[in-house]
Amino acid sequence: MISLLALPLALLLPLATSSPHPNRRTTYGPSNATDIDAVLAGSRSCSSSGVVIVRETWAPGNIGVLWGARFRDEMVDAFGGDVDVQGVHREDYPANLEDYHIGGSDTGADSCARMVEAYAGKCPDARVFVTGYSQGSLVAYKCVNRVSAAARAQVKALVVFGSEERLMDDVQPVPEGILLKDYCVENTTAPDVVCTQTLTSGIQLPTSVGEIVSQLEQTVASLGELVTNEDQLKEVATAPALLIRDLPATLPWIAQDIEQGKIRRWLILPPHLMYGFNGMTTDAAAWMASVAGS
Ligand SMILES: *[C@@H]1O[C@H](CO)[C@@H](O)[C@H](O)[C@H]1NC(C)=O
Ligand SMILES: *[C@@H]1O[C@H](CO)[C@@H](O)[C@H](O)[C@H]1NC(C)=O
Repeated sequence: MISLLALPLALLLPLATSSPHPNRRTTYGPSNATDIDAVLAGSRSCSSSGVVIVRETWAPGNIGVLWGARFRDEMVDAFGGDVDVQGVHREDYPANLEDYHIGGSDTGADSCARMVEAYAGKCPDARVFVTGYSQGSLVAYKCVNRVSAAARAQVKALVVFGSEERLMDDVQPVPEGILLKDYCVENTTAPDVVCTQTLTSGIQLPTSVGEIVSQLEQTVASLGELVTNEDQLKEVATAPALLIRDLPATLPWIAQDIEQGKIRRWLILPPHLMYGFNGMTTDAAAWMASVAGS
């Protein structure tokens, strides 16, 4: 293990100083969304719908800046402001890489389920949506399965982006009565291989931990090409250090997954980063508003 550990750190350090793309066009609201906390505290009245957001690995705040902040703003628009949006609490859901190998943070899923139940209890007429991106999608699957039957009756849909659930062990299906909307970058020459079901035959699977680490490193570096605002720029700057922080605990799991033929779950390629940039959140917000109104 020692030589494996030495390799990625040396490879990754130069990334911390790589310069991001100068393109900073689009600004969104903050990386925290706390409407449901406010409703539960009595300082905000119930909207007709509530949305719990489960952010992707390493995302700042409680919804992140690469996907969640944009999606929140688009949902507020699509619902005409009549929506309570909330991220799962950071203290319960660290969104680290270690929790990814177990199929998404369990404490995050419990926290999400508690939030859905508390909100459904406080707002018995509200429709509830749970949405997640990447690890957040796995946590969202767990969340809807952990909500009590009574509160579950208010949950309209699970909306996931870049979801790895087909590659993970023991993922429970979406409970009956809850709609599933599943966004995956696919049917393109560069699909998101953790979720696509339509183009898997040509994928060259890595055969060593070094190859996986090098691929993760390239994906992190490619973040710099995507960013459109200062908040995203800040996240890009922290990503290499977070990869370095989480790799030592994660490398043994990557090695095990290579042995067991499960390596595709670690193939996080640049198309997996597109969900906050390709219009899928816009589509999802409109779909959710139509479901809420139906
Ligand atoms: C988001 O909330 C966390 C605490 O959970 C806080 O540390 C952070 O400063 C907040 N960020 C913003 C942009 O408000
Ligand atoms: C990709 O193609 C498949 C099969 O035609 C289809 O079911 C799926 O919805 C397509 N995905 C996207 C994102 O358009």
